Amino acid sequence: MRRKIFAGNWKMNYTVKETREFFSAIEGKIPAAKSGCEFQLYVPALSLTIALDLGKKSGITIGAQNVHWETKGAFTGEVSGPMVKEIGVNQVLVGHSERRQHFGETNTTVAKRCSSLLKQGFNVLVCIGETRAEREAGKTNTVLRQQLMALFHEGEHHCGSYLGKSLHVAYEPVWAIGTGLTATPEQAEEAHQEIRTVLTKSVSEEASKATSILYGGSVTPANFAELLKCENIDGGLVGGASLKPQDWLALAQILQS
Ligand code: 13P
Repeated sequence: MRRKIFAGNWKMNYTVKETREFFSAIEGKIPAAKSGCEFQLYVPALSLTIALDLGKKSGITIGAQNVHWETKGAFTGEVSGPMVKEIGVNQVLVGHSERRQHFGETNTTVAKRCSSLLKQGFNVLVCIGETRAEREAGKTNTVLRQQLMALFHEGEHHCGSYLGKSLHVAYEPVWAIGTGLTATPEQAEEAHQEIRTVLTKSVSEEASKATSILYGGSVTPANFAELLKCENIDGGLVGGASLKPQDWLALAQILQS
């Protein structure tokens, strides 16, 4: 069956020193990951080395927040797959809405990134989700479908063969990110159901059933358990609360209870 995942996304927070402090605060208190459960943490590129070292001891999978689709070349400011692979990274977050909003990421570049990284052997968590305006205009399902179809229509960047194996999905409604406005379990489940239906239709039922779909958007220890009760919610992608050691530990505990 599909894995349950608690993934933290630190975004552009914590220096190397603060990363060390975070790990010493949770050291010895992390629940052992039960079979079928996984803890992931996406940290800034400069903290990858130290987090990999400290995360290894604690069984946390450390991931990069963004990696270029080309393996080298004239892309000032970017990091490549081979660069992060060499230091031990196997997991990458792709298509976060902040990349889409602030850095010109489109469905096409998300697909390019995903297919290149999957071919390079990385595990990828791809983010999708609608804005408030899109939800209010009744376009949520259309937007989700378009974001997914970019990954699964036939062509150069087709990612279908990786789905449910090294490719999993995070649903993050943009209006719920960092706003304290969590989607209700009903709203989240409805979107997750739609995502699973699209995955079944565009890839296969087997791959769709094996895909972990994480919910993200103002997840805290106070609402995580309710969200996890939904049939199609397989975990959480957590920003703000994943920066606080006590909340991080509580979320890890809730995932497995
Ligand atoms: P918050 O949990 O801070 O709302 O952030 C969600 C998110 O964007 C995780 O990737």
